[in-house]
Order: sequence, then structure tokens, then C-alpha cells
Amino acid sequence: MDHVGTGAVTRETPPVNLREFEPAARARLDPAHYDYFAGGAQDEITVAANEAAFRRRALVPRVLRGQGPPRLEVTVLGETASMPVLLAPTAFHRLAHPDGEFATARAAAEAGVIMIAAMLSTVTIEEIAACGPKLWFQLYIQPDLGFTTSLVRRAEDAGCRALVVTADSPALGRNERGDRNGFHDLPPGMYCANMVQKGRQGRDDEVRQVALSPDLSFRHLDWLRETTSLPIVLKGVLHPADARLAVEHGVDAIVVSNHGGRQLDTVPASLDRLPLVADAVRGQVPLLLDGGVRRGTDVVKALALGADAVAIGRPALWGLAVAGRAGVERVLTLLRNELANALTLCGAASPGDVTGDLLDGIDLK
Ligand code: FNR
Repeated sequence: MDHVGTGAVTRETPPVNLREFEPAARARLDPAHYDYFAGGAQDEITVAANEAAFRRRALVPRVLRGQGPPRLEVTVLGETASMPVLLAPTAFHRLAHPDGEFATARAAAEAGVIMIAAMLSTVTIEEIAACGPKLWFQLYIQPDLGFTTSLVRRAEDAGCRALVVTADSPALGRNERGDRNGFHDLPPGMYCANMVQKGRQGRDDEVRQVALSPDLSFRHLDWLRETTSLPIVLKGVLHPADARLAVEHGVDAIVVSNHGGRQLDTVPASLDRLPLVADAVRGQVPLLLDGGVRRGTDVVKALALGADAVAIGRPALWGLAVAGRAGVERVLTLLRNELANALTLCGAASPGDVTGDLLDGIDLK
């Protein structure tokens, strides 16, 4: 299977690329659950824009550079990963497969990639950590700062190496597929495992309501900075002024992201905002990008525009739905092979060797 650089032709078992996992997953999933994963806000203009932004851009490779097979490893916030691809935080993995986040975490551990565990996971952060992946924890800062602190401590104790604060969700985006399907609650027996609160005075345990709060501000980030010594990653930045503010407020990394087009519809593709954010941040903190990454060439394009690494959301969920742990592993293997191939064909020795001139401002359409 590892035919990169050898020129050998190998027969792949379908799905042979990340996109082909989506129809395979759709065939297996409850239609309402498929819609929950696939959908975005309102007209889903931003969902489409994310992928289109990669398709539009042309790569201009260098030739005869004699670089040999590329090395894919990167170090992000002191964590070495086998490639510059992380698993973006996505909620409710047990909707995709009964093994849920256990399967995803084991696949991440096997692949040596960083998994950003969602606060809204269907197994606990401790259970995910026990599967052994390199782990970061995504947090929606809850207005109850005492409860937020308890989540932070649990993430620290579980061995998470960074906190990823989602900034683009002061409210839930309007997902009309959910409205149409009447899908507003998890099925019986499934719940946000991190939100379970011990029952007091002999009462049963309760699952706390998740609060997305329009009150959140940079003051909350300052509070978090005082509360933990873990690196803080701010996810969901599209505006260069916010990127500058984030750096001023001491964040350790930024994820340029529009939440996979699930929050405010008609915001630009995250790839289209990456150069502006990179310009504003001027290398002061590492930059990640998510939204629409489906190909090894997409990873190269993001690196060329200033990202240190990318994250994938839906493709991992499709892999999970198709074949549990093996499906997520397959998605990561396909992307790894594509990335190695794309770097080789671009004449780049490593992710760090990707330079802006590989994208020459040429549009394919
Ligand atoms: C998400 N995303 C997300 N982000 C976050 O910070 N917390 C969360 O709980 C979730 N949940 C979630 C569920 C589902 C089903 C999806 C598809 C996405 C957003 C996610 O982290 C990421 O930004 C996007 O998924 C990236 O876009 P692609 O790769 O899905 O195109």
C-alpha cells in the first residue's frame, strides 16, 4: 500500500479517497444523523465555499530538487505528530458508530496524530485519554466558571496537552436539516458524557445543559489564562483584528475556522481568510486551519498560505461511520499517502519546506 515515491501501481480497496467515504457513510447512517454530520447553517453556502476555495487554487510545483521521500512529522505546541493533520473536535461520535470516541481515539493513537476531543463527546475525556492518543481538549467556556474550571482540571488530569477554546459559537448556528428532521436530542442512552454531574443527597446523576453564551468575551480568555498553565488554542478566528487580539491576550495558537460552515452562514471559506490572519499574526503563534480539507493537495495549499497544520472534521466521522476504528485509520492513511505524494510532486522535503510560491495566485476557474 505504501507506494509513494516508488512509482508502483497498487490496487486500493474502495473508498479510495476521503470524499468517497461520505456516500459510503450515508448508506449506513440514520438519515437524520447523516444530516447532522453533513449539514451546515441555513443555505450551507459556507460549507460549499470551504471545499471550493481549495479547488480554485493552483499549485505550481518545483522540479528536479532531489529531495527524496518527504518527512511528514511536525511539532505543534511541543507535541510531535506523525503528520500536520489533526482530528478536529466533533461532537457525538456514538451517533456515527457504537464505539464512538473510543474508536476515533484508538485510530488517532495508531496513526500518531493529535486528536482534539470535543467537550460534547459521548464518552468521557478520561475514557478517550485511556485509548492513548496525543490529546487536546476542546472547550465551550460555560457561563458557570466553577463548572468550566472542573472541566479544565479533568482535561489536565487526563493528560490533555492543550485547551482549544471555541470562539465562534456565542449561539448555535441555524441548522435547518435538524429542524426538518426534528432532530434536536440525542437518542435514549446517549448523552454528553463530560457534562454528567454527580447527584447530590441521594439523587440520580444529572446531565448538565450545555450553554453557548453570547456573554463570552476576551475577559473569559484572560480568566482561563489565569486558571490553567496548559497552552490555549483559540478556534474559530476569521478576522485579522481578532487574531491580533488573541495574541495580545496570550493565546498559544489559533485555528482559522468557520466551524465547517455550521455557525454563521455566508462567512468566507477558512482558506480564503488564512493569508490575512497569517499576515496579522506574523509567525508569533502557530496557525491551524480547518474546513474543507479533503486531499493531500489541500494540506499543501493550507501550508503554503501560512498554516502550520490542518484539522479534518467530517472525513473522520465518515470513516468512523463506515468501519469504526479501521475506517478512521483508513481515512488518515489515505490522507497521509496523498500528502506524501503531493509534497514529493511539489519538490518539498517536508511540511516546513512548503513555501508560498507554490501557490502563484493562479485560479483554476
Ligand atoms: C463540528 N465542529 C465542532 N467544533 C467545535 O469546536 N466543537 C464541537 O463540538 C464541534 N462539533 C462538530 C460536529 C460536527 C458533526 C461537525 C461536522 C463539526 C467543527 C469542527 O471542529 C471543524 O471546525 C469542522 O468540522 C471542519 O470542517 P470539515 O473538515 O468538517 O469540513
